[in-house]
Amino acid sequence: MISKQTIDKIFSTIRVEEIVGEYVQLKRAGSNYKGLSPFHDEKSPSFVVSPSKQIWKDFSTGKGGTAISFLMEIENFTYPEALRHAAKKYGIEIEEDQKDFSEEAKNAQSERDLLYKIHEIANDYYQNFLWEVEEGKAIGLSYFKERELRDDIIKKFQLGYSPEKKNAFTAYAIEKGYSKEILEKSGLSIFPENTPAGVDRFRERVIFPIHSFSGRVLGFGARILKNNVKTAKYLNSPETEIYHKSNVLYGLNQSKQAISKKNVCLLVEGYMDVISLHMSGIENVVASSGTSLTTEQIKLIKRLTENVTILFDGDNAGIKASFRSIDMLLTEGMNIRVLLFPDGDDPDSFARKHPQEYVERFIENEAMDFIDFKAEILFKDIGNDPIKKAEAIRDIVKSVGFVQNALKREVYLKQVSNKFGLSEQSLFNELDVQRQVTQNQNQHVQQQKEQSAPVKMEVVPLNDEKGDPFMFEVLFMENKLVDHMLMFGDIVLKRKDDQEEEYQITVIEEILQHFEEEGYEFLVKGNEIIINQVKEGIQNDELRSGTFFVSFMDEEITSKVVDALIPLDDLENWASRNIYPPNYGDKIAEQVKGDVLLHKYRYIDYLIKQTAKELDEHSSSDPVKYFELIQKITLLKQASMRLSDIIEYSPIKGIYGDRKR
Ligand code: CTP
Ligand code: MN
Repeated sequence: MISKQTIDKIFSTIRVEEIVGEYVQLKRAGSNYKGLSPFHDEKSPSFVVSPSKQIWKDFSTGKGGTAISFLMEIENFTYPEALRHAAKKYGIEIEEDQKDFSEEAKNAQSERDLLYKIHEIANDYYQNFLWEVEEGKAIGLSYFKERELRDDIIKKFQLGYSPEKKNAFTAYAIEKGYSKEILEKSGLSIFPENTPAGVDRFRERVIFPIHSFSGRVLGFGARILKNNVKTAKYLNSPETEIYHKSNVLYGLNQSKQAISKKNVCLLVEGYMDVISLHMSGIENVVASSGTSLTTEQIKLIKRLTENVTILFDGDNAGIKASFRSIDMLLTEGMNIRVLLFPDGDDPDSFARKHPQEYVERFIENEAMDFIDFKAEILFKDIGNDPIKKAEAIRDIVKSVGFVQNALKREVYLKQVSNKFGLSEQSLFNELDVQRQVTQNQNQHVQQQKEQSAPVKMEVVPLNDEKGDPFMFEVLFMENKLVDHMLMFGDIVLKRKDDQEEEYQITVIEEILQHFEEEGYEFLVKGNEIIINQVKEGIQNDELRSGTFFVSFMDEEITSKVVDALIPLDDLENWASRNIYPPNYGDKIAEQVKGDVLLHKYRYIDYLIKQTAKELDEHSSSDPVKYFELIQKITLLKQASMRLSDIIEYSPIKGIYGDRKR
């Protein structure tokens, strides 16, 4: 593991503008740099780098962070991988630290590295066999030629050939010094009990390497050449430490630029579909490769575009199964169109039959939105049966229910209403029912997930009163106070105590004191994490403010912090006003004081409301409890009135205008 000192050294040496500058063309804008977002196709720059804060923020996607998190984002690196990459660039020697980490963790890291390495070796080996060795040329290369693939395309996708000999690759790798264990773990070799020399997983097959987003080989797909052999047509790498097929899309590395540029991703099924489309100049295409689409895969696409066009074979048996993919895509907020190729054609054969322009126009004109598509499939053999018709419509409305955006949902529902001549109202009712059903189904799953899920920055209501305005007000102030800590944490305030003695206190300390004093329970889990970190910092004599958290490796926290550090409003002006948003300036002392009071005030209101509710529930059953609650409410109300007086007569009043509800 990389030592703490090395990590600190890396963070203090690297320059975010230099690292980002390798991927994004940056232009000076005041004290900052601006450029086009690398995560989103856009015409006016919304990507900002702040050299003084050493952070970046992408306003089009909401992402932001340090140079290291940028590398993680754009190269799909893990944290240590990104650190190593940056260290290399700046010639920083990595000091490994074994004390703090178990041997196991260290081994795991190097095992991953080894797995990457061995896949690289294998990839070179198979390609070399295809191009340079007689057997490979005669069998593998001629197969690709038969399928009319051009040399440049074979090379672009790094296609290869695995020889007939039982352990050709295994022997080669062992000679290179790789252990049997690692070969077995990579899935490339198998060591049956009575065959110590090992057996290659892939033999006499053409090879399709499967790349990560950033182009590393994670595994292989391998196609058999003889049609009469009774084994699976494609053999794929098993799940390994580095290859999780549900997290990978075939062709993404080769297609990512075109996808983001064209702002649409074509989704096909097979390796050859991706390759053929590329060959005819259509490069915005990926394949789910034999698995049904997963949420992780959709998220990979979503980094590049929100638009997906699914391309199916005309005679595809799995079309109805594809309905699941449609609902999943809708759930992830994607816009979908679906295209059926004419009978017998798949994207591969169609692309080889027709010129690029024709294929492009065909996709553009023939792709249907999901409503028309589902209608076409579902109504195919229904005839005039009204019950079956109703079922089909219900099925379509169910999909509409997965659309996340309310406005879009309504537009789609109107479309269904027009298409089938049904009243919008009845469809809305049906939609409600459907959403209820799905929600109930999901709730159970969701609850289980939440128990183990990593911390989310979202509002986590303590009870189910989602719309409680009292809670919302508290929440708003809670966020605001934490933002203050992050932005101005180290600013020293001059205060006077009860005896009018002047004392000094940092913003962090003052706000922390307030939270502690109230025994406050945070409404947002992420805020609690931040506060705990701050407390820990104080115990260690360090002031943990904004920049500390920017390098904190929790994605949700980092993005919250970056949001606080780079105010969202008015990108243009932001550059010119170097640190503080306009209404702050030298008012910080008053602002913090006022916000603390206001938070307290609203929190008390909220507690009163909560207690009143409790009172309702206990009023009849438990007289002791009842009395306790009444007393609590009285005390809270008194506190609230005192506070309201303070706020009324305090000079901070002007900041808030009329704050009385
Ligand atoms: N697939 C697989 N294992 C199989 C069959 C299929 O992994 N036994 C995956 C492959 O990724 C394949 C995709 O499913 O590319 C689609 O399968 P299919 O349509 O049968 O293959 P094609 O891509 O059309 O392959 P080809 O044109 O080479 O026959
Ligand atoms: Mn095919």
